[in-house]
Amino acid sequence: MKVENIEDLKALKEKHYPLIKQRLGHRNGLGLTQIMVCSGSSCISSESQAILRELERELDDYGLKENVRVVKTGCLGFCQHGPVVMVHPGEIFYCQVKPEDVKELVQTHLIDGKLVERMLYQEDLTGRRIPSINDIHFFKAQERVVLQNCGVINPEDIEEYIARDGYFALADVILNKQPGEIIDIISKSGLRGRGGAGFPTGKKWEMTAAQDVTPKYVVCNADEGDPGAFMDRSILEGDPHSVLEAMAIAACCIGANQGYIYVRAEYPVAVERLEIAIKQARETGLLGKGLFGTSFDFDIELRLGAGAFVCGEETALLHSIMGARGEPRPRPPYPAQEGVWGKPTLINNVETYANIPIILRRGWEWYQGYGTATTKGTKVFSLAGKINNTGLIEVPMGTSLRTIIFDIGGGIPGGRKFKAVQTGGPSGGCIPEKFLDRPIDYESLKEIGSIMGSGGMIVMSEDNCMVDLARFYLEFTQDESCGRCTPCRVGTKRLLEILKRITEGQGEMEDLDILERLSLDIRDASLCGLGQTAPNPVLSTLSYFKDEYIAHVRNKACPAGVCKALLEYQVDEEKCVACGLCAKACAVGAISGEPKQPYRIDPAKCVKCAACVARCPKKAIFQGRGKEATIIENAGIFTGTGSQENRATL
Ligand SMILES: Cc1cc2nc3c(=O)[nH]c(=O)nc-3n(C[C@H](O)[C@H](O)[C@H](O)COP(=O)(O)O)c2cc1C
Ligand code: SF4
Ligand code: SF4
Ligand code: SF4
Repeated sequence: MKVENIEDLKALKEKHYPLIKQRLGHRNGLGLTQIMVCSGSSCISSESQAILRELERELDDYGLKENVRVVKTGCLGFCQHGPVVMVHPGEIFYCQVKPEDVKELVQTHLIDGKLVERMLYQEDLTGRRIPSINDIHFFKAQERVVLQNCGVINPEDIEEYIARDGYFALADVILNKQPGEIIDIISKSGLRGRGGAGFPTGKKWEMTAAQDVTPKYVVCNADEGDPGAFMDRSILEGDPHSVLEAMAIAACCIGANQGYIYVRAEYPVAVERLEIAIKQARETGLLGKGLFGTSFDFDIELRLGAGAFVCGEETALLHSIMGARGEPRPRPPYPAQEGVWGKPTLINNVETYANIPIILRRGWEWYQGYGTATTKGTKVFSLAGKINNTGLIEVPMGTSLRTIIFDIGGGIPGGRKFKAVQTGGPSGGCIPEKFLDRPIDYESLKEIGSIMGSGGMIVMSEDNCMVDLARFYLEFTQDESCGRCTPCRVGTKRLLEILKRITEGQGEMEDLDILERLSLDIRDASLCGLGQTAPNPVLSTLSYFKDEYIAHVRNKACPAGVCKALLEYQVDEEKCVACGLCAKACAVGAISGEPKQPYRIDPAKCVKCAACVARCPKKAIFQGRGKEATIIENAGIFTGTGSQENRATL
């Protein structure tokens, strides 16, 4: 159906509203069961699409297709417990469902009318099985504003978005409001850019609207290159229309007719959903020519990025959109003055845009109700690293790190001790335990040497080495530096060399001073944000974890037992029962032994893979040097941040 006026939009909303109402907990006597299958990237990678197909097949076999509907959704954020399947009515939350569980799910839940206990979420503390999503603490403790549609609607169906009041804000802007009024509302809401720098969004819109040059452009930055961050991806996968609607609103306010979404090609699901959403919006008359019967035209094209971190920087992104090399340039002129094709361009981040329609629907006063004095609204964070509930959450700005990590995130696995949290990705810093109770916003994080960035949080436990962590991030930024300016190109290389030396036991005490001085120079002299923030992981670990650097330099020891060059594997002669399993596990023949004699490891041959540790039934293999040796009970699972595999862990 083509939407030509507000009545058409209302008619579409009415059509799907009962389905959505049921998914929000209303027992509306629909006579229909809806099974929601999470189809975000994380659940897809653990076979959720096979579950979907199995469900369709089973329902067909049982002749239940009339009364049961299977629906694809975006991510609910509980990725650790995926694949997730929800059943309405009842809001029953099943987790870690496998394709082979589908038969039982259909038989028990749909035919027998009973819950499948073993697939319900099990609470860590009490061991209790919790049937309804509404009683699961992870969800109860959040405030889902931007993510309100993720997990509720089918992102591949524009009518479901409309049933959630989608495109009504756009209609109001086009039909009833002046651009100045809308920009004023955005300014009063206090919304600040979620791409990292926290620039006031209303001000940016105002600056672009004020340019007396045509044409103008609207750009969405969906590059999201920080390791460990997946907020923007989840929004695009779960609620792509909220971004399209916001871009159309922005275009109407600044006087643009063309938009571009710059999205990284490594996000194939997001790209596919965006393509579907754009096509459907065009077919429904919500993108294209003459929206809502007016003379306002607006359309959007995708531009795929090849996965360079620097292309997320706004001026580099503009170059990349125009087909040039993605290199930053000095500002001014700002994109608001000279952007795509040299014309005024508004660039905002995915999450920034996703906030817009709801602010306009619910009012700036409502939005102002969330947050701190300087930073309003909510923030989506991705939780990764050593945390029980790896996934995606949304909380009001000003929530403490302790609440995020220990309450919603469920704390550190295996009873290990918290060491630090890295916020803001490679541009951010490491925050130690003493700041866990700080309410976080842009300013409070900056005060303690980190940044909000786009919202990635990587939690580290006592098993992480902070020098190795700084080295990992420097490896990343040095790799990703575009090379245009010397402080960043050469400076990050030198920083990395020093960090490598330290982790290999070749560091000198004066290296610590050089690290600090060089970091400050790179920060002050680099052209763009990549170089300016690259030293943050070094500066913050030096500031809060200097003792670890000193241990590496003076004692040639890695207290966390991560830096391979500083480790030795030894057999505890008293514990060894000469079973020989370790020797069988060792691929390089470094272990030898005889019956009834303790086995021995030849340090010259050992490549420190820890395979023997994982194999030893007596926990008789130690890691470390002499007295500093420690037993590594979970060895073979995770040994630091340096190698390629560990990049994936982060
Ligand atoms: C190296 C670098 C990478 C960046 N990557 C992103 C990114 O992936 N996504 C993003 O929205 N902003 C990124 N930014 C910030 C953008 O330059 C820009 O500030 C942002 O897109 C503006 O949108 P906002 O005002 O809505 O935050 C990056 C900045 C730098 C310096
Ligand atoms: S700071 Fe680094 S990424 Fe930025 S322009 Fe200079 S070399 Fe390129
Ligand atoms: S750590 Fe690896 S290489 Fe070294 S002895 Fe054990 S199994 Fe062999
Ligand atoms: S596996 Fe453990 S107990 Fe067995 S020989 Fe090796 S060190 Fe000794």
